[in-house]
Amino acid sequence: MGNHETIALAVIGGTGLYRLATLAGARSVSEPTPYGEASGPLRIGTLAGRTVAFLARHGEGHTLPPHKVNYRANLWLLHAVGVKRVLAVNAVGGITQRFGPRTIGVPDQIIDYTWGRIGTFCEEGDRDVLHVDMSEPYTQRLRHALLAAARAANVEVVAGGCYGATQGPRLETKAEIARLRRDGCDVVGMTGMPEAALARELGLDYACLALVANWAAGCGDAAEITMAEVLDNLEYATARLPAVLAALLKGTAV
Ligand code: HPA
Repeated sequence: MGNHETIALAVIGGTGLYRLATLAGARSVSEPTPYGEASGPLRIGTLAGRTVAFLARHGEGHTLPPHKVNYRANLWLLHAVGVKRVLAVNAVGGITQRFGPRTIGVPDQIIDYTWGRIGTFCEEGDRDVLHVDMSEPYTQRLRHALLAAARAANVEVVAGGCYGATQGPRLETKAEIARLRRDGCDVVGMTGMPEAALARELGLDYACLALVANWAAGCGDAAEITMAEVLDNLEYATARLPAVLAALLKGTAV
């Protein structure tokens, strides 16, 4: 698939992040994969002197709901162009106290509540079945590099926490969030899985920046969650990403 310059990092952008404004001289790569079409073209360019790939998870015009994202095609495309490290950016709702709106989290655990999504490259029976270890669903080395980068960039982030992945696209009921809280979830989002598991099957390093857009249902004072609040808080958190990304790419870990 074309000339393979070494790609230092791939960023998968979630809601509110459809392009990286700081990615210079980007070329586009759109290739069919054995698993169908990715969410859109890969944009490969230069950031902080390194080669970086960007993919908008929901499509650049945000047309794909979480359960329709072709997670397999997305991860396969990244793998096919030589990506080794993936930084997933995900909008989430905050459940526990440390994760109020506008917080940026670097979670270390996941509980998967999604259903009906193909969560493996072994689905078709054409390869040996993999039972990948998911004890630590995110790559610790990349998580720690991310935490160090945030410190270097003077951006406050919350280390650790459990990401509960729900089906969406609707938001949750208060009772569902109360259950997630009892289960130990700190944040809730709709796209964390099966992405993390598929990355592991492909042997990719994978870590998550969780941008808290709102208090999850029943966790704040608001009677309901509005898209206006979600987008406003995401814009605030997203504005702090370029500094973290630049610091990450200037570090030695990626
Ligand atoms: N629930 C699930 N996913 C989300 C939320 C939420 O409250 N906010 C942003 N993504």
